[in-house]
Amino acid sequence: MYSFLRNLSFLEIGFNLVIVAKMLGTLLAQDTTISFLGCATQMYFFFFFGVAECFLLATMAYDHYVAICSPLHYPVIMNQRTRAKLATASWFPGFPVATVQTTWLFSFPFCGTNKVNHFLCDSLPVLKLVCAYTALFEIYAIIGTILVVMIPCLLILCSYTLIAAAILKIPLAKGKHKAFST
Ligand SMILES: *[C@@H]1O[C@H](CO)[C@@H](O)[C@H](O)[C@H]1NC(C)=O
Repeated sequence: MYSFLRNLSFLEIGFNLVIVAKMLGTLLAQDTTISFLGCATQMYFFFFFGVAECFLLATMAYDHYVAICSPLHYPVIMNQRTRAKLATASWFPGFPVATVQTTWLFSFPFCGTNKVNHFLCDSLPVLKLVCAYTALFEIYAIIGTILVVMIPCLLILCSYTLIAAAILKIPLAKGKHKAFST
């Protein structure tokens, strides 16, 4: 659990740093500009850390499921190799999602206003500055977002349903309490 928590902290630091670093610059130096490349970089890492975090949360839910539903097998199932594989599998989806999203959006022509109406280069405020036909990209972005949110969400729900079912089977109230607090 702690190695996944360390992963989560790491992703969370990255995710916040991507936003806050530029925001502090904006607030302290009153420099409200961001370069084209800076904007793309910020969007890339924003999506990368965000997506990886969603999948890492699903991995952590699976870790809890194994710990509670097969406590005696836990050290065997969650050995170092499995943990490394799960951590890699959580981080990996961030790469293709961030790469496709950022390269596709930033390959559109930009014209007219160049004001990003947001505190970071998120996809919707940047999309508003594009002057081209973007319907296909929007469909891709919506489907991508639904998948990235729904897949981990369903896995987490599954894990917690199984955990709740296992806990309700524990006969002793004290045992139930201990399992729930875990
Ligand atoms: C993430 O978890 C894996 C698997 O336990 C571990 O090997 C790796 O060092 C962790 N990474 C970070 C940045 O904590």
